[in-house]
Amino acid sequence: MVNKGRLDKIKVYTAGKPIEELKRERNLKNIYKLASNEIPFSPNYIKEAILKELKNINRYPESNCFYLRKCLSEKLGVREEQLVFGNGSDELIILAIRALTFPKSNVIVGFPTFLIYEIQAKVSGIKVKRIPLINYRYNLEAMAKAVDRNTKIIFIANPDNPHGTYVNHKEVENFLDSIPKEVVVFFDEAYFEFVSQKDFPNSLSIIKKRPNTIVTRTFSKAYGLAGLRIGYAISSGEIASLLEKVREPFNVNRFAQVSAIEALKNKGFLSKVLENNTKEKDFLYREFKSIGISFIESVTNFILIDFKQDTKLLNEYLLERGVIVRELDSWGLKNFFRVTIGTHEENLALVRYLKEYLKMRR
Ligand SMILES: Cc1ncc(COP(=O)(O)O)c(C=O)c1O
Repeated sequence: MVNKGRLDKIKVYTAGKPIEELKRERNLKNIYKLASNEIPFSPNYIKEAILKELKNINRYPESNCFYLRKCLSEKLGVREEQLVFGNGSDELIILAIRALTFPKSNVIVGFPTFLIYEIQAKVSGIKVKRIPLINYRYNLEAMAKAVDRNTKIIFIANPDNPHGTYVNHKEVENFLDSIPKEVVVFFDEAYFEFVSQKDFPNSLSIIKKRPNTIVTRTFSKAYGLAGLRIGYAISSGEIASLLEKVREPFNVNRFAQVSAIEALKNKGFLSKVLENNTKEKDFLYREFKSIGISFIESVTNFILIDFKQDTKLLNEYLLERGVIVRELDSWGLKNFFRVTIGTHEENLALVRYLKEYLKMRR
């Protein structure tokens, strides 16, 4: 018997069901995946760059993402050494915990929120302080109060997943005023590109004033590169250099590097994604209201639905019809589910089957 130690109590993270898996399980022609906050379009404009890179795949990629680093530092107006690239922004969470915590440390997270902060801290044997959200929003005041001398990182998903809410500039400023400067505040901005709210914090200017700040963003969501796995962190040069020490040398593959450069150059694709998101979010809001489904208004590309009853049967009903939504059991939200905003066709399918289900259950 191996000694499972601290891993004994850790549950394996269950991701949203992949399209391929549902196809294997059931004989379905059309699958509508609305579970993992991916966008519904494939970025075909990267094709040429991918094909060009194909001839180099017998060689390791450049470890420091040389060209992408140049491109991104220019776009963001930060120094190249302030950037760290990861195999998805997930990896940057792992790197931060690895680099910045010690055996007696603790980290502070909201609850419920994106689960990886807590899972990865526990994997590293680090204590986690959970601070419940209030009205589906982070309770920054309570998070600040929870800081003690062993607190090393405070994780804030902004906007939050699964709620789709955000904390604004003023709230963040007040919060930071009360956080000791040696505590690292980690803003996870995976959905940054979808946010149009004017009072969303300018996290790059926060880094200038407060070096112990990490901001992560990703190419997985609005840029449509989830299948390639690439994200990045922006922080002070000092914090970035610590993350670099614990990073695997070839964590970002060649295709991801060249595609991310194309994504930064291409304007049309992102506009199309954002336009579809706004239009379809309005459509779903209208439909949910008309069928009496409660939801939380979202600044992202997903919507949290309060179904007021266990979603197990509904989930099975939808899967049987090829619609994959996100069950939130692991978050402790049995009566909720999350839907990613898809194409009009996908959203129509969702609404249609939701209506059918509700009619049948009445
Ligand atoms: C809040 C949040 N952070 C980070 C991630 C990880 O994204 P990736 O590793 O694909 O960059 C996700 C993915 O769903 C997320 O919702």
